Amino acid sequence: MKRREERLKLRDDPHRPIYHFLPPANWMNDPNGLIQWCGTYHLFYQYNPEFPAPVSICWGHAISKDLVHWEDYPVALAPSPGGADKDGCWTGCAVNDNGVPTLIYTGVFPEVVCIARGDPELVTWEKYQGNPVIPAPPEGMKVTGFRDPYVWREKDGWYLVLGSGIKGKGGLALLYKSSDLQRWEYLHPLCEGKEEETGFMWECPNFFPLDDKHILIASPIPLGYPIYLLGRYERNRLNVERLGKVDGCAHSFYAPQVFIDGEGRRIMFGWLRELRSPQAQEESGWSGVMSLPRLLTLKEGKLSVDVVPEVEKLRCQPYHILLDMEIRETKWFPIPEIQGDALEIGVVLSSHNSRAFGVIIRRSPMGEEETLIGYDREKGEVFLDATCSSLDSSLTKPFCSAHLELSDKPLFLRIFIDRSVVEVFVNRKLTLTTRIYPAHRDSLGIGLFVKEGTAKLVKFEAWAMKPIW
Ligand code: FRU
Repeated sequence: MKRREERLKLRDDPHRPIYHFLPPANWMNDPNGLIQWCGTYHLFYQYNPEFPAPVSICWGHAISKDLVHWEDYPVALAPSPGGADKDGCWTGCAVNDNGVPTLIYTGVFPEVVCIARGDPELVTWEKYQGNPVIPAPPEGMKVTGFRDPYVWREKDGWYLVLGSGIKGKGGLALLYKSSDLQRWEYLHPLCEGKEEETGFMWECPNFFPLDDKHILIASPIPLGYPIYLLGRYERNRLNVERLGKVDGCAHSFYAPQVFIDGEGRRIMFGWLRELRSPQAQEESGWSGVMSLPRLLTLKEGKLSVDVVPEVEKLRCQPYHILLDMEIRETKWFPIPEIQGDALEIGVVLSSHNSRAFGVIIRRSPMGEEETLIGYDREKGEVFLDATCSSLDSSLTKPFCSAHLELSDKPLFLRIFIDRSVVEVFVNRKLTLTTRIYPAHRDSLGIGLFVKEGTAKLVKFEAWAMKPIW
Protein backbone atom coordinates (compact mmCIF):
# COMPACT_ATOMS: atom_id res chain seq x y z
CA MET A 1 0.00 0.00 0.00
CA LYS A 2 2.73 2.41 1.03
CA ARG A 3 4.48 1.83 -2.28
CA ARG A 4 1.34 2.57 -4.26
CA GLU A 5 0.94 5.84 -2.42
CA GLU A 6 4.55 6.75 -3.01
CA ARG A 7 4.09 6.14 -6.73
CA LEU A 8 0.86 8.11 -6.87
CA LYS A 9 2.46 11.09 -5.15
CA LEU A 10 5.14 11.35 -7.83
CA ARG A 11 2.95 10.58 -10.82
CA ASP A 12 2.49 14.15 -12.01
CA ASP A 13 6.19 15.00 -12.04
CA PRO A 14 6.67 15.87 -15.74
CA HIS A 15 10.13 14.25 -15.79
CA ARG A 16 9.13 10.95 -14.22
CA PRO A 17 8.90 8.06 -16.72
CA ILE A 18 5.61 6.15 -16.99
CA TYR A 19 6.59 2.99 -18.88
CA HIS A 20 10.16 2.35 -17.71
CA PHE A 21 10.79 0.50 -14.48
CA LEU A 22 11.70 2.61 -11.49
CA PRO A 23 11.15 2.19 -7.76
CA PRO A 24 8.17 3.73 -5.95
CA ALA A 25 10.33 6.68 -4.85
CA ASN A 26 13.83 7.71 -3.76
CA TRP A 27 17.13 6.32 -5.05
CA MET A 28 17.88 3.60 -7.60
CA ASN A 29 21.10 2.69 -9.39
CA ASP A 30 22.43 -0.59 -10.86
CA PRO A 31 20.25 -3.52 -11.93
CA ASN A 32 21.20 -6.57 -9.84
CA GLY A 33 20.44 -10.28 -9.64
CA LEU A 34 18.56 -10.53 -12.94
CA ILE A 35 17.09 -13.99 -13.26
CA GLN A 36 14.09 -15.79 -14.68
CA TRP A 37 12.78 -18.18 -12.04
CA CYS A 38 9.93 -20.61 -12.81
CA GLY A 39 8.95 -18.38 -15.71
CA THR A 40 8.88 -15.13 -13.70
CA TYR A 41 11.45 -12.41 -14.31
CA HIS A 42 13.10 -10.98 -11.20
CA LEU A 43 14.73 -7.60 -11.22
CA PHE A 44 16.71 -6.52 -8.18
CA TYR A 45 18.32 -3.13 -8.01
CA GLN A 46 20.52 -0.87 -5.91
CA TYR A 47 18.02 1.04 -3.81
CA ASN A 48 17.79 3.57 -1.04
CA PRO A 49 14.12 3.43 -0.04
CA GLU A 50 14.45 6.40 2.32
CA PHE A 51 16.07 9.19 0.37
CA PRO A 52 16.95 10.02 -3.26
CA ALA A 53 20.73 9.69 -2.77
CA PRO A 54 23.08 6.66 -2.68
CA VAL A 55 23.48 5.89 1.04
CA SER A 56 22.70 2.69 3.04
CA ILE A 57 22.11 0.81 -0.16
CA CYS A 58 19.66 -2.13 -0.15
CA TRP A 59 18.48 -4.47 -2.87
CA GLY A 60 15.04 -3.47 -4.14
CA HIS A 61 13.05 -6.18 -5.90
CA ALA A 62 10.37 -6.32 -8.58
CA ILE A 63 8.89 -9.16 -10.62
CA SER A 64 7.39 -9.43 -14.07
CA LYS A 65 5.77 -12.00 -16.33
CA ASP A 66 6.61 -10.14 -19.53
CA LEU A 67 9.68 -7.91 -18.91
CA VAL A 68 7.60 -4.72 -19.20
CA HIS A 69 4.96 -4.75 -16.43
CA TRP A 70 6.50 -4.88 -12.95
CA GLU A 71 5.16 -5.56 -9.50
CA ASP A 72 6.99 -4.29 -6.43
CA TYR A 73 8.26 -6.93 -4.01
CA PRO A 74 9.69 -6.31 -0.54
CA VAL A 75 13.29 -5.19 -0.18
CA ALA A 76 15.40 -8.33 -0.62
CA LEU A 77 18.63 -7.37 1.14
CA ALA A 78 19.40 -4.63 3.64
CA PRO A 79 22.64 -3.96 5.53
CA SER A 80 23.02 -6.07 8.72
CA PRO A 81 24.40 -4.05 11.64
CA GLY A 82 27.79 -5.48 12.55
CA GLY A 83 27.77 -7.74 9.47
CA ALA A 84 30.05 -7.87 6.43
CA ASP A 85 27.47 -5.74 4.57
CA LYS A 86 26.88 -3.27 7.43
CA ASP A 87 27.54 -0.25 5.20
CA GLY A 88 25.61 -1.39 2.16
CA CYS A 89 24.52 -4.31 0.02
CA TRP A 90 26.14 -3.35 -3.24
CA THR A 91 25.96 -4.84 -6.70
CA GLY A 92 25.82 -8.56 -7.44
CA CYS A 93 23.98 -11.31 -9.28
CA ALA A 94 21.60 -14.25 -8.81
CA VAL A 95 22.06 -17.92 -9.66
CA ASN A 96 20.08 -21.12 -9.39
CA ASP A 97 22.13 -23.32 -7.05
CA ASN A 98 20.52 -26.66 -7.68
CA GLY A 99 17.03 -25.32 -7.01
CA VAL A 100 18.04 -22.79 -4.36
CA PRO A 101 17.91 -19.14 -5.44
CA THR A 102 21.19 -17.57 -4.37
CA LEU A 103 22.36 -13.96 -4.42
CA ILE A 104 26.06 -13.18 -4.59
CA TYR A 105 26.69 -9.54 -3.76
CA THR A 106 29.13 -6.94 -2.48
CA GLY A 107 29.39 -5.99 1.19
CA VAL A 108 31.07 -2.71 2.15
CA PHE A 109 33.32 -1.40 3.82
CA PRO A 110 35.83 -2.97 3.15
CA GLU A 111 34.60 -4.45 -0.14
CA VAL A 112 33.93 -8.18 0.22
CA VAL A 113 31.75 -10.83 -1.43
CA CYS A 114 28.69 -12.15 0.45
CA ILE A 115 25.95 -14.63 -0.36
CA ALA A 116 22.30 -15.03 0.65
CA ARG A 117 19.85 -17.84 -0.06
CA GLY A 118 16.17 -17.35 -0.80
CA ASP A 119 12.91 -19.19 -0.23
CA PRO A 120 11.25 -20.76 -3.30
CA GLU A 121 9.24 -17.56 -3.89
CA LEU A 122 12.41 -15.42 -3.76
CA VAL A 123 10.82 -13.17 -1.14
CA THR A 124 12.85 -13.71 2.02
CA TRP A 125 16.60 -14.04 1.95
CA GLU A 126 18.88 -15.55 4.53
CA LYS A 127 22.41 -14.34 4.63
CA TYR A 128 25.06 -17.04 4.92
CA GLN A 129 26.55 -17.25 8.42
CA GLY A 130 30.04 -17.59 7.01
CA ASN A 131 29.93 -14.25 5.11
CA PRO A 132 32.05 -12.83 3.66
CA VAL A 133 32.85 -15.67 1.26
CA ILE A 134 35.64 -13.63 -0.34
CA PRO A 135 37.02 -11.48 2.49
CA ALA A 136 39.88 -9.63 0.78
CA PRO A 137 41.76 -9.17 -2.49
CA PRO A 138 44.41 -11.76 -3.41
CA GLU A 139 47.58 -11.49 -1.28
CA GLY A 140 49.86 -8.66 -2.22
CA MET A 141 47.54 -7.16 -4.84
CA LYS A 142 47.11 -3.39 -4.59
CA VAL A 143 43.62 -2.99 -5.97
CA THR A 144 41.71 0.18 -6.90
CA GLY A 145 38.39 -1.53 -6.12
CA PHE A 146 37.08 -5.01 -5.42
CA ARG A 147 33.38 -5.48 -6.07
CA ASP A 148 30.34 -6.53 -8.13
CA PRO A 149 30.54 -10.34 -8.42
CA TYR A 150 29.06 -11.98 -11.53
CA VAL A 151 28.74 -15.77 -11.37
CA TRP A 152 28.11 -18.53 -13.90
CA ARG A 153 28.32 -22.29 -14.01
CA GLU A 154 30.68 -24.35 -16.15
CA LYS A 155 30.98 -28.14 -16.32
CA ASP A 156 33.59 -28.22 -13.58
CA GLY A 157 32.06 -25.75 -11.13
CA TRP A 158 31.09 -22.15 -10.41
CA TYR A 159 33.08 -19.21 -11.73
CA LEU A 160 32.97 -15.62 -10.55
CA VAL A 161 34.41 -12.41 -11.96
CA LEU A 162 34.97 -9.44 -9.74
CA GLY A 163 35.44 -5.85 -10.88
CA SER A 164 38.83 -4.51 -9.93
CA GLY A 165 41.96 -2.70 -11.04
CA ILE A 166 45.64 -2.48 -10.22
CA LYS A 167 47.17 0.83 -9.19
CA GLY A 168 49.24 2.26 -12.03
CA LYS A 169 48.22 -0.48 -14.50
CA GLY A 170 44.50 -0.41 -15.19
CA GLY A 171 41.08 -1.98 -14.71
CA LEU A 172 40.67 -5.73 -14.75
CA ALA A 173 38.31 -8.58 -13.97
CA LEU A 174 39.51 -11.12 -11.39
CA LEU A 175 38.50 -14.74 -11.89
CA TYR A 176 37.56 -17.07 -9.02
CA LYS A 177 36.34 -20.66 -8.87
CA SER A 178 34.19 -22.62 -6.40
CA SER A 179 32.34 -25.89 -6.04
CA ASP A 180 29.75 -24.65 -3.51
CA LEU A 181 29.54 -20.83 -3.87
CA GLN A 182 31.03 -20.61 -0.35
CA ARG A 183 34.71 -21.44 -0.72
CA TRP A 184 36.33 -19.49 -3.52
CA GLU A 185 39.76 -19.97 -5.00
CA TYR A 186 41.39 -17.06 -6.84
CA LEU A 187 42.68 -18.12 -10.26
CA HIS A 188 44.02 -15.09 -12.17
CA PRO A 189 42.69 -12.10 -14.11
CA LEU A 190 40.11 -13.12 -16.72
CA CYS A 191 41.17 -10.08 -18.70
CA GLU A 192 43.22 -6.92 -18.07
CA GLY A 193 42.95 -3.42 -19.51
CA LYS A 194 45.37 -0.55 -19.92
CA GLU A 195 44.64 2.48 -17.78
CA GLU A 196 45.07 4.95 -20.71
CA GLU A 197 42.50 3.00 -22.72
CA THR A 198 39.93 1.63 -20.32
CA GLY A 199 40.39 3.34 -16.97
CA PHE A 200 41.74 2.24 -13.59
CA MET A 201 38.80 0.33 -12.15
CA TRP A 202 36.18 -1.86 -13.82
CA GLU A 203 32.81 -1.79 -12.09
CA CYS A 204 30.05 -4.34 -12.70
CA PRO A 205 31.72 -6.97 -14.93
CA ASN A 206 29.46 -9.39 -16.85
CA PHE A 207 30.85 -12.38 -18.72
CA PHE A 208 28.95 -14.70 -21.07
CA PRO A 209 29.10 -16.51 -24.41
CA LEU A 210 27.46 -15.07 -27.52
CA ASP A 211 27.52 -17.36 -30.58
CA ASP A 212 31.06 -18.68 -30.84
CA LYS A 213 32.59 -15.76 -28.91
CA HIS A 214 32.65 -14.55 -25.33
CA ILE A 215 31.93 -11.05 -24.11
CA LEU A 216 33.04 -9.18 -21.04
CA ILE A 217 31.06 -6.04 -20.28
CA ALA A 218 32.42 -3.62 -17.69
CA SER A 219 31.74 -0.08 -16.51
CA PRO A 220 35.15 1.53 -16.06
CA ILE A 221 36.08 4.46 -13.83
CA PRO A 222 36.70 7.19 -14.87
CA LEU A 223 35.18 6.51 -18.32
CA GLY A 224 31.65 6.51 -16.91
CA TYR A 225 30.18 4.43 -19.75
CA PRO A 226 30.12 0.65 -20.26
CA ILE A 227 32.50 -1.07 -22.65
CA TYR A 228 32.59 -4.55 -24.08
CA LEU A 229 35.56 -6.77 -24.80
CA LEU A 230 34.84 -9.53 -27.26
CA GLY A 231 37.03 -12.49 -28.00
CA ARG A 232 37.83 -16.11 -27.42
CA TYR A 233 37.63 -17.72 -24.00
CA GLU A 234 40.43 -20.23 -23.75
CA ARG A 235 41.93 -21.82 -20.65
CA ASN A 236 39.90 -19.47 -18.48
CA ARG A 237 41.24 -16.33 -20.10
CA LEU A 238 39.56 -13.95 -22.48
CA ASN A 239 41.73 -13.20 -25.52
CA VAL A 240 40.31 -9.90 -26.67
CA GLU A 241 39.73 -9.32 -30.38
CA ARG A 242 37.53 -6.25 -30.22
CA LEU A 243 36.80 -3.39 -27.85
CA GLY A 244 33.61 -1.35 -28.20
CA LYS A 245 31.03 0.81 -26.44
CA VAL A 246 27.80 -0.79 -25.25
CA ASP A 247 25.78 2.39 -25.97
CA GLY A 248 26.62 5.28 -28.29
CA CYS A 249 26.16 7.87 -25.53
CA ALA A 250 28.46 8.24 -22.58
CA HIS A 251 26.45 10.01 -19.92
CA SER A 252 23.41 8.13 -18.76
CA PHE A 253 23.37 4.39 -19.54
CA TYR A 254 25.62 2.70 -16.97
CA ALA A 255 26.34 -0.47 -14.98
CA PRO A 256 24.30 -2.82 -17.20
CA GLN A 257 23.63 -6.39 -16.20
CA VAL A 258 23.00 -9.25 -18.63
CA PHE A 259 21.14 -12.50 -17.99
CA ILE A 260 19.89 -15.42 -20.03
CA ASP A 261 16.15 -16.10 -20.05
CA GLY A 262 14.21 -19.32 -20.61
CA GLU A 263 14.27 -18.81 -24.36
CA GLY A 264 18.04 -18.53 -24.34
CA ARG A 265 18.00 -14.78 -25.00
CA ARG A 266 20.76 -12.60 -23.54
CA ILE A 267 18.87 -9.65 -22.10
CA MET A 268 20.43 -6.52 -20.68
CA PHE A 269 19.09 -3.81 -18.37
CA GLY A 270 21.09 -0.71 -17.50
CA TRP A 271 20.76 2.10 -15.03
CA LEU A 272 19.81 5.43 -16.67
CA ARG A 273 21.53 8.02 -14.53
CA GLU A 274 20.07 11.44 -13.94
CA LEU A 275 21.61 14.38 -15.77
CA ARG A 276 20.07 16.90 -13.35
CA SER A 277 21.76 18.20 -10.20
CA PRO A 278 21.72 16.23 -6.92
CA GLN A 279 19.66 19.09 -5.52
CA ALA A 280 17.03 18.72 -8.25
CA GLN A 281 16.94 14.96 -7.57
CA GLU A 282 16.40 15.53 -3.86
CA GLU A 283 13.68 18.06 -4.48
CA SER A 284 11.83 15.75 -6.85
CA GLY A 285 11.94 12.82 -4.41
CA TRP A 286 13.28 10.24 -6.83
CA SER A 287 16.39 9.42 -8.85
CA GLY A 288 17.33 6.76 -11.38
CA VAL A 289 15.38 4.64 -13.86
CA MET A 290 15.99 1.34 -15.62
CA SER A 291 16.51 1.10 -19.38
CA LEU A 292 14.10 -0.93 -21.47
CA PRO A 293 15.16 -4.57 -21.72
CA ARG A 294 17.65 -4.94 -24.56
CA LEU A 295 18.43 -8.00 -26.59
CA LEU A 296 22.08 -8.80 -27.28
CA THR A 297 23.29 -10.63 -30.36
CA LEU A 298 26.42 -10.77 -32.46
CA LYS A 299 26.24 -9.17 -35.91
CA GLU A 300 29.16 -8.69 -38.28
CA GLY A 301 31.51 -9.61 -35.46
CA LYS A 302 30.22 -6.83 -33.19
CA LEU A 303 27.90 -6.61 -30.22
CA SER A 304 24.46 -5.75 -31.54
CA VAL A 305 21.72 -4.31 -29.33
CA ASP A 306 17.98 -4.18 -30.00
CA VAL A 307 14.89 -3.78 -27.86
CA VAL A 308 12.95 -6.92 -26.88
CA PRO A 309 9.68 -7.40 -28.83
CA GLU A 310 7.62 -7.48 -25.60
CA VAL A 311 7.87 -3.68 -25.48
CA GLU A 312 5.37 -3.48 -28.36
CA LYS A 313 2.67 -4.45 -25.86
CA LEU A 314 2.87 -0.95 -24.51
CA ARG A 315 1.72 0.65 -27.75
CA CYS A 316 -1.73 2.22 -27.98
CA GLN A 317 -3.37 2.62 -31.39
CA PRO A 318 -0.93 4.11 -33.92
CA TYR A 319 -1.26 7.86 -34.08
CA HIS A 320 -0.42 8.53 -37.62
CA ILE A 321 1.46 7.10 -40.51
CA LEU A 322 3.29 8.98 -43.23
CA LEU A 323 4.62 7.15 -46.24
CA ASP A 324 6.87 7.95 -49.19
CA MET A 325 7.52 11.68 -49.02
CA GLU A 326 10.38 13.83 -50.21
CA ILE A 327 11.46 16.39 -47.67
CA ARG A 328 13.51 19.39 -48.74
CA GLU A 329 16.02 21.25 -46.61
CA THR A 330 14.25 22.38 -43.46
CA LYS A 331 15.12 23.11 -39.86
CA TRP A 332 11.66 22.07 -38.75
CA PHE A 333 9.10 20.02 -40.63
CA PRO A 334 6.31 19.61 -38.09
CA ILE A 335 4.09 16.56 -37.86
CA PRO A 336 1.28 18.26 -35.96
CA GLU A 337 -0.80 15.10 -35.63
CA ILE A 338 1.76 13.72 -33.21
CA GLN A 339 2.68 15.25 -29.89
CA GLY A 340 3.77 13.87 -26.61
CA ASP A 341 6.26 12.87 -23.98
CA ALA A 342 5.46 9.14 -23.78
CA LEU A 343 5.76 7.80 -27.31
CA GLU A 344 7.39 5.26 -29.51
CA ILE A 345 8.32 6.59 -32.94
CA GLY A 346 9.41 4.38 -35.81
CA VAL A 347 11.03 6.15 -38.75
CA VAL A 348 12.63 4.94 -41.94
CA LEU A 349 14.51 7.68 -43.76
CA SER A 350 17.01 7.74 -46.57
CA SER A 351 19.29 10.58 -47.38
CA HIS A 352 18.98 11.02 -51.16
CA ASN A 353 21.46 13.88 -51.37
CA SER A 354 21.10 15.63 -48.03
CA ARG A 355 24.01 16.21 -45.65
CA ALA A 356 22.07 15.31 -42.53
CA PHE A 357 18.51 14.36 -41.69
CA GLY A 358 16.46 13.04 -38.83
CA VAL A 359 13.76 13.52 -36.24
CA ILE A 360 13.07 16.32 -33.79
CA ILE A 361 11.39 15.47 -30.51
CA ARG A 362 10.18 17.36 -27.43
CA ARG A 363 10.17 20.69 -29.30
CA SER A 364 8.64 23.75 -27.67
CA PRO A 365 6.12 25.69 -29.79
CA MET A 366 8.66 28.46 -30.44
CA GLY A 367 11.58 26.08 -30.85
CA GLU A 368 13.72 27.19 -27.88
CA GLU A 369 13.78 23.60 -26.69
CA GLU A 370 14.28 20.60 -28.95
CA THR A 371 16.22 17.34 -29.19
CA LEU A 372 17.52 16.05 -32.52
CA ILE A 373 18.17 12.46 -33.51
CA GLY A 374 19.62 11.96 -36.94
CA TYR A 375 22.28 10.87 -39.34
CA ASP A 376 25.23 12.90 -40.56
CA ARG A 377 26.15 11.53 -43.95
CA GLU A 378 29.47 13.35 -44.17
CA LYS A 379 30.68 11.90 -40.89
CA GLY A 380 28.95 8.55 -41.33
CA GLU A 381 27.50 8.94 -37.85
CA VAL A 382 24.14 8.66 -36.19
CA PHE A 383 23.74 11.28 -33.48
CA LEU A 384 21.59 12.46 -30.61
CA ASP A 385 21.83 16.19 -29.96
CA ALA A 386 20.35 17.16 -26.59
CA THR A 387 22.31 20.41 -26.28
CA CYS A 388 19.12 22.47 -26.72
CA SER A 389 16.81 20.01 -24.96
CA SER A 390 16.07 22.39 -22.08
CA LEU A 391 16.37 26.03 -21.07
CA ASP A 392 17.44 24.87 -17.60
CA SER A 393 21.14 25.75 -17.41
CA SER A 394 21.89 23.50 -14.42
CA LEU A 395 21.58 20.33 -16.52
CA THR A 396 24.09 18.23 -18.43
CA LYS A 397 22.86 18.37 -22.04
CA PRO A 398 24.94 16.00 -24.12
CA PHE A 399 25.66 15.52 -27.78
CA CYS A 400 26.57 11.96 -28.66
CA SER A 401 27.21 10.02 -31.82
CA ALA A 402 28.19 6.60 -33.09
CA HIS A 403 29.72 5.41 -36.32
CA LEU A 404 27.19 3.75 -38.63
CA GLU A 405 27.85 2.56 -42.17
CA LEU A 406 24.62 3.09 -44.11
CA SER A 407 25.84 2.68 -47.71
CA ASP A 408 22.60 2.69 -49.64
CA LYS A 409 20.49 1.37 -46.83
CA PRO A 410 17.94 3.62 -45.11
CA LEU A 411 18.19 4.74 -41.51
CA PHE A 412 15.73 2.97 -39.22
CA LEU A 413 15.16 4.69 -35.88
CA ARG A 414 13.00 3.42 -33.06
CA ILE A 415 12.76 6.25 -30.61
CA PHE A 416 11.33 5.69 -27.15
CA ILE A 417 10.42 8.90 -25.38
CA ASP A 418 9.32 8.53 -21.79
CA ARG A 419 9.27 11.99 -20.24
CA SER A 420 12.96 12.47 -19.23
CA VAL A 421 14.13 9.25 -20.92
CA VAL A 422 15.17 8.98 -24.56
CA GLU A 423 16.27 5.59 -25.86
CA VAL A 424 17.01 5.25 -29.56
CA PHE A 425 17.50 1.90 -31.29
CA VAL A 426 19.26 2.38 -34.61
CA ASN A 427 18.99 -0.08 -37.50
CA ARG A 428 18.38 -2.85 -34.98
CA LYS A 429 22.00 -2.84 -33.90
CA LEU A 430 23.05 0.11 -31.80
CA THR A 431 21.60 2.44 -29.20
CA LEU A 432 21.81 6.08 -28.15
CA THR A 433 20.46 6.76 -24.68
CA THR A 434 20.09 9.96 -22.75
CA ARG A 435 17.97 11.96 -20.33
CA ILE A 436 16.32 15.30 -21.15
CA TYR A 437 14.38 17.67 -18.90
CA PRO A 438 12.57 20.30 -21.00
CA ALA A 439 11.63 23.31 -18.88
CA HIS A 440 8.40 23.99 -20.81
CA ARG A 441 5.52 21.63 -20.19
CA ASP A 442 4.43 22.07 -23.81
CA SER A 443 7.74 20.95 -25.33
CA LEU A 444 5.94 18.07 -26.96
CA GLY A 445 6.35 18.75 -30.68
CA ILE A 446 7.53 16.11 -33.13
CA GLY A 447 8.89 16.68 -36.62
CA LEU A 448 11.75 16.21 -39.04
CA PHE A 449 14.81 18.15 -40.20
CA VAL A 450 16.91 17.99 -43.34
CA LYS A 451 20.22 19.79 -43.89
CA GLU A 452 21.42 20.71 -47.40
CA GLY A 453 19.44 18.78 -49.98
CA THR A 454 16.52 16.41 -49.89
CA ALA A 455 15.76 13.36 -47.81
CA LYS A 456 13.24 10.66 -48.43
CA LEU A 457 10.82 9.66 -45.75
CA VAL A 458 10.01 6.02 -46.38
CA LYS A 459 7.81 5.55 -43.33
CA PHE A 460 6.91 7.36 -40.16
CA GLU A 461 4.68 5.94 -37.47
CA ALA A 462 4.11 6.72 -33.83
CA TRP A 463 2.31 5.28 -30.87
CA ALA A 464 1.32 6.73 -27.54
CA MET A 465 2.63 4.37 -24.86
CA LYS A 466 0.61 2.96 -21.99
CA PRO A 467 1.78 3.49 -18.42
CA ILE A 468 2.97 0.36 -16.64
CA TRP A 469 1.75 1.32 -13.14
C1 FRU B 1 28.16 1.04 -10.08
C2 FRU B 1 28.42 0.88 -8.59
C3 FRU B 1 28.98 -0.49 -8.27
C4 FRU B 1 28.63 -0.62 -6.81
C5 FRU B 1 27.28 0.04 -6.75
C6 FRU B 1 27.03 0.77 -5.46
O1 FRU B 1 27.21 2.03 -10.34
O2 FRU B 1 29.30 1.90 -8.15
O3 FRU B 1 30.35 -0.62 -8.54
O4 FRU B 1 28.59 -1.97 -6.38
O5 FRU B 1 27.24 0.95 -7.83
O6 FRU B 1 25.71 1.24 -5.42
